[in-house]
Amino acid sequence: MARSILVTGGAGFIGSNFVLRTAAASGVHVVTLDKLTYAGNVHNLATLRGSSEHTFVQGDIQDRELVRSLLRTYDIAAVVHFAAESHVDRSILGPEEFIRTNVGGTFALLEEAKTYWQSLSADGKNSFRFLHVSTDEVYGSLGPNDPAFTENTPYAPNSPYAASKASSDHLVRAYHHTYGLPTLTSNCSNNYGPYQFPEKLIPLTILNALNGKAIPVYGDGKNVRDWLYVEDHCDAISTILKLGKPGETYNVGGSSEKANIDVVNTICELMDELVPGSPSRPHKNLIKFVTDRPGHDRRYAVDASKLRRELGWQPQENFRSGIRKTIEWYLSHKEWLDSVVSGAYKDWIAAQYATR
Ligand code: NAD
Ligand code: DAU
Repeated sequence: MARSILVTGGAGFIGSNFVLRTAAASGVHVVTLDKLTYAGNVHNLATLRGSSEHTFVQGDIQDRELVRSLLRTYDIAAVVHFAAESHVDRSILGPEEFIRTNVGGTFALLEEAKTYWQSLSADGKNSFRFLHVSTDEVYGSLGPNDPAFTENTPYAPNSPYAASKASSDHLVRAYHHTYGLPTLTSNCSNNYGPYQFPEKLIPLTILNALNGKAIPVYGDGKNVRDWLYVEDHCDAISTILKLGKPGETYNVGGSSEKANIDVVNTICELMDELVPGSPSRPHKNLIKFVTDRPGHDRRYAVDASKLRRELGWQPQENFRSGIRKTIEWYLSHKEWLDSVVSGAYKDWIAAQYATR
């Protein structure tokens, strides 16, 4: 029988990219547990419908009975935990769900994973893994000349989202230290690529450019993020799952720092090239500087040398190649974009941008 892994949040952006590639690899059965919040989309996994390599379960990671039953029924060998509320702006407008899912949900999963793990044979215990997918935002904000975040950078989260992820990281650490649960934590920089919900900077810019709508850039546009193509993140997660040392944390990043305005300008230039008949050319004319995000972190940069040195991982895409692929994917998946831009999405855009 194939080895089974439980993937939480596998219908979201990074989770679905991970599930699609993992279920395609032979010998792994993936059980996806996803609540299907506004950010989850079961159609992301449509190509796996009917596949014996994949089982989809709609449910909440806080439902301990459900988690307990999935771990036992499928004889789970590893948990890969993506499920979270992930958008910083939403955490500013409504932090409660972030505490519930990111802190309470991670706690529930850890409790059930611990009990399950304790019941395994010695071999099962040795090989079991709980991989917690986290973010570089737990480290706070860097000045222009500060060195990039390492695994030893002190935690200094600044948004409710970052604080909730930092809390979950601490819980994961404690379950390893106290109970011996074989945990792994990855702290990754900003991802982009197929299936990203168009509330985040890159897909929002592509969508608005396509529709001839204003492209909102917060503040002076000079905040810096370190961008990584989602496939490279998924590859890092597979590598950490296979080779990572229990109890360790690994930073993941693309060594690709860019100011937001440069990211937006690049997308606009590529849209000019890839949609030559667009009435919105030059797309740069759509850029609109708007009121800044409260508490907006100025700069993130990730030092991923531990992952490269110890586990041999390195990204395959650079920003130029990855962003072109990403735009081409959105242009060839307009039906996907149409399907996610629902009434609820329009309500969010109105609440977030109308008065900026
Ligand atoms: P996403 O918002 O696109 O997807 C989150 C998924 O979790 C959705 O499918 C949603 O339905 C599901 N979910 C939410 N609450 C749930 C619950 N209570 N029970 C079960 N499922 C639930 O997020 P993403 O961008 O794919 O991020 C995935 C993970 O990676 C998150 O933990 C995030 O913190 C982390 N991360 C994201 C980035 C990034 O740039 N997007 C970078 C580093 C780390
Ligand atoms: O660093 C990793 C994090 O990256 C992940 O943990 C988060 O889940 C993910 O959402 C992302 O957080 P950011 O806040 O950096 O991503 P976002 O796409 O929301 O914003 C990227 C930058 O662009 C940020 O500096 C804010 C800015 N921005 C964002 C939006 C939505 C704009 O200027 N305009 C916008 O409309």
